[in-house]
Amino acid sequence: MSENSNKPTMDKGAAVRDGFSSKFGIIAAAAGSAIGLGNIWKFPYITGQNGGAAFIIIYLICIALIGAPVMLSEFLIGRRAQRNAVGSFKKLAPGTPWFLTGWMGIAAAFMILSFYGVVAGWTIHYVILSVTNAFSSWVEGESVEVFVGLISGADGKWWLPVLYQVLFMILTSAIVLGGVKDGIEKYSKILMPLLLVLIIALDIRAITLPGAGAGVEFLFKPDFSKIINNPASVLDALGHAFFSLSLGMGTMITYGSYIGKKENLGVTSIQVTIADTVIALLAGLAIFPAVFAYGIDPAGGPGLVFMTLPAVFAQMPLGALFAVMFFGLLTVAALTSSVSILEVVVAYFKEELNMTRTKATIIAGSVITAFGAVCSLSYSDISFFNKAIFPTFEFVLEDGTWTFLQQHNFFDWFDKISANFLLPLGGLFIIIFVAWKMKKEDVKDEVSNSGALKVGYFVVFEVLAKYVAPIGIILVFLHSIGVLRLISWALGNK
Ligand code: TRP
Repeated sequence: MSENSNKPTMDKGAAVRDGFSSKFGIIAAAAGSAIGLGNIWKFPYITGQNGGAAFIIIYLICIALIGAPVMLSEFLIGRRAQRNAVGSFKKLAPGTPWFLTGWMGIAAAFMILSFYGVVAGWTIHYVILSVTNAFSSWVEGESVEVFVGLISGADGKWWLPVLYQVLFMILTSAIVLGGVKDGIEKYSKILMPLLLVLIIALDIRAITLPGAGAGVEFLFKPDFSKIINNPASVLDALGHAFFSLSLGMGTMITYGSYIGKKENLGVTSIQVTIADTVIALLAGLAIFPAVFAYGIDPAGGPGLVFMTLPAVFAQMPLGALFAVMFFGLLTVAALTSSVSILEVVVAYFKEELNMTRTKATIIAGSVITAFGAVCSLSYSDISFFNKAIFPTFEFVLEDGTWTFLQQHNFFDWFDKISANFLLPLGGLFIIIFVAWKMKKEDVKDEVSNSGALKVGYFVVFEVLAKYVAPIGIILVFLHSIGVLRLISWALGNK
C-alpha cells in the first residue's frame, strides 16, 4: 500500500484509517490538539480564580507526575490496538468492561466540545472586531462591557454568539469530514510555530506595561494558603492538566492509532507535554500583567482573555494587526483542538457502529452543536436557559465555615463535570489499564518499538503509572470532596 514506513499498519477492513505522515506532523497534530483554548483562554482564568502562583505549581506537578504518563499510556494503547477509543479497549481486553472507559470518553467529548465551540465562537467575533479595528477606539473599561454584551446577548442579539458557535462547528465538522492527514497535520505544522512567535511578541508588550510587575508576581510568587483553604482548587489543577493535554477521553488513544510504528512514543509524549506547558505559561505572562495594569479582577472568569488583551492591543503600535493575527490564530488553535475532540466520536461511530465518516460527522456534529447552543444561551438573559438548574459539588472554606459556591449554569456545569470529573476518572482507568491490566512485556514492546529503542526511562514510567499517578488522582478526588480534611480532623491533628 505504501513505501512510507512511518505509516501505521493499515487495517484492511477500515479503508479510511489514515495516519500521520511525518515525525514533525505527529507532534504538530498532537500538540495542535493539546494547545488550544485550554492554554490561552482557560489556563489564565482558572489561575486567576485560584489565586495565582501556588495553583500553577500544583498544576505543573500534576502535568509531570500524572499528565505525561497518562499521555504515553494513551498513545501506546491506541497504537497497539489500531482502533478508536472504545474499540481499543475491546481489542486489547476482549470480553471485559474496560470498554466503558472509552464510552465515558465519548460522553466527555460531547460535553467538552459543546462549550468549547461557544468559546471558539467568541474568538471568531473578536477576529471580526479586530479586523474592523474596533479596539483602538475603546475607552477604559469598554472591553469588559463589550464582552459581557456579547455573551449575554445585549440589545436582543441573543442569537449572535449562537451563530458564531454554529459557524465554528461547521468548520470543525468540515475538516473532520475531510480526514485528518491532509488538513490538520498540514496546517498545524505552519500555524503552531506562528502562534508561539505571536505570544512571545505579546509577552514583551505585556511585561513592559506600566504596573505589569504585580501581574508577574501573581504568576510566580506562590501563596499556598490560597490552595489550602480551597481544596477544590487542587481538583481544578488536576482537571486542567487533563484538559490542557487532551487526556482522559481517548483523544490521544485515537491519535496514537495514527502514529507510525517507528516513532518514539515516549519522546513524543514529552515533547507534546512541554510544548503545551510552555504555551500556557507564556499565555499567562501575556495576560496577567495586563490584568493588573488595567485593574481587571483576576478572578473574573471565562471572559478574562477577551477583556484584557483588547486593552493591550489598543495600546500597541500596530495593535490592530496584532489583534487580527492573535485572535485569528487562537481560532485556528481552537480548531486543531476541536477537530481532535470530534474525531474521537467520529472514529468511534465509524469503526464500532459501522457508519460512514460523513454520517458519523453529521450526527455527532449536529448533536454537539445543539448542546453548544444551550451552553451559549445559558449566559443570555433568556430565563429558561440562564436559570442555574444544576447544583454544584464545590465548596470552599470561608472565615472558618464551609460554604457552597453559587450554582452554575449549563456552560459551567458541562465544563466542571467533564474536566474535573470525567477526564481525571478516564485518566485513572487508562493508566490502571496500562499498568495493571496489560502485560508488562506488551507495554514495553510497544514503547520500545519491539526492542528497537532503548527505553531507560521505563522504570520511571512504571512507578508513575502503577503507583504515583493513580494514587495521586485518587488523593486529589478525596481532597477535593473534603474527605482528607475529615480524616485528619478525626485523627485529631487538624
Ligand atoms: N487540549 C485542548 C485545549 O487545551 C482541548 C482538547 C482537545 C481536549 N482534545 C481534548 C480536552 C480532549 C480534553 C480532552 O484547548
